[in-house]
Amino acid sequence: MVNEIVNGVFYVGVDDRQTRLFENLWPLPSGVSYNSYIIKDCKNVLVDTVEHAYGEEFFGKVREVLGDSPVDYLVINHMEPDHSSSITELKRRYPDVKIIGNAKTLAMLDGFYAISDNVVEVKDGESLSVGENTLTFHLTPMVHWPETQMTYIPEKKLLFSGDAFGTFGALGGKVVDEDVDMSQYWDEMYRYYSNIVGKYGMPVEKAIAKVGGFPIEYICSTHGPVWKKHIPEVVEVYSRMSRYEGECGVVVVYGSMYGHTAGMARTIAGALAEAGIKNVVLHDVSDSDMSFILRDIFKYRGLIIGAPTYSGDIFPKVESLLAQITLRGVKDRVFGCFGSFSWAGVAVKRLTAFAEHMKWGVTGTPVEMKQGGTGADIPSACKALALSVAEALNSKQ
Ligand code: FEO
Repeated sequence: MVNEIVNGVFYVGVDDRQTRLFENLWPLPSGVSYNSYIIKDCKNVLVDTVEHAYGEEFFGKVREVLGDSPVDYLVINHMEPDHSSSITELKRRYPDVKIIGNAKTLAMLDGFYAISDNVVEVKDGESLSVGENTLTFHLTPMVHWPETQMTYIPEKKLLFSGDAFGTFGALGGKVVDEDVDMSQYWDEMYRYYSNIVGKYGMPVEKAIAKVGGFPIEYICSTHGPVWKKHIPEVVEVYSRMSRYEGECGVVVVYGSMYGHTAGMARTIAGALAEAGIKNVVLHDVSDSDMSFILRDIFKYRGLIIGAPTYSGDIFPKVESLLAQITLRGVKDRVFGCFGSFSWAGVAVKRLTAFAEHMKWGVTGTPVEMKQGGTGADIPSACKALALSVAEALNSKQ
């Protein structure tokens, strides 16, 4: 079924409920949509395509909208293959289609698909009339690749935003936010942003500033619902995440081999709750998928990490988490740390060095337990650490 979003603009995207891992990395418990749109006018315009495995369904929808009429233009807002890998087939079915992209897009189009004919290069701010509608093109590099751009239709107050404002979660028939159950999308938006776009906070901020002055009634991104009713909340979520601005809450994340570090984590989480912190999230790195841990680290301002020392270094799965946080350049967290060791303590040293590297500093006194912690009041030390983090968070409110 094809959805008409607003007069003459149609959704022709598809749901993917089969791929287990997005980018072969990030789980998709509720699927993902690859969004594509048609503007039906004197010239028919397709905006982005879909993952090629869904080509038959996609081209069926294109035909349902256009019948025997041609696709006159393809606008490429983003070249990542989940949006571009049907272009070769599009060219086969519509050989006269003109492909619109900026210089970086067209270089990638050649590089990925050896397509360099019948292309139209656009520069930032340029426009194209296709009948009743005007397309204006706005370069938004690194949201989330170098070539990314947005396309705006002033007559419809409609923005095709590329990956910006996207979310995981398949759509299931209806596509506009006011027609879908929104409950699954908010958390998935955090997870999508933190995992996929999270490294590019500054470019996202710039992009929001660039198009923020446009009158906008519809935001059509490449993944997830079309935003209409919830535009202010969605822009707010993206804007907050692009600034790495967390809500009041603490993620306690730990690795543990034999339960000692896990016990410390539970004590810390309990003490945070007792200190009045409402949002306390506990993650075992060996149990929680990394994507959910990163989601919560983007969501909350407090972070306490614990790890045992393992083979003279930090527990490997915590090491991987530190690398992913570093890659994303997460800013301004209230950070505490704890750990355990059997004969030589390394993990807590690594965690404090990590916090210095991130320019967060360390809040409270790190707790380090030797062997089973006999003869030391580890629970009191864990509670004191939790209290320090809670006080630091409350003082920042
Ligand atoms: Fe959904 Fe960056 O592509």
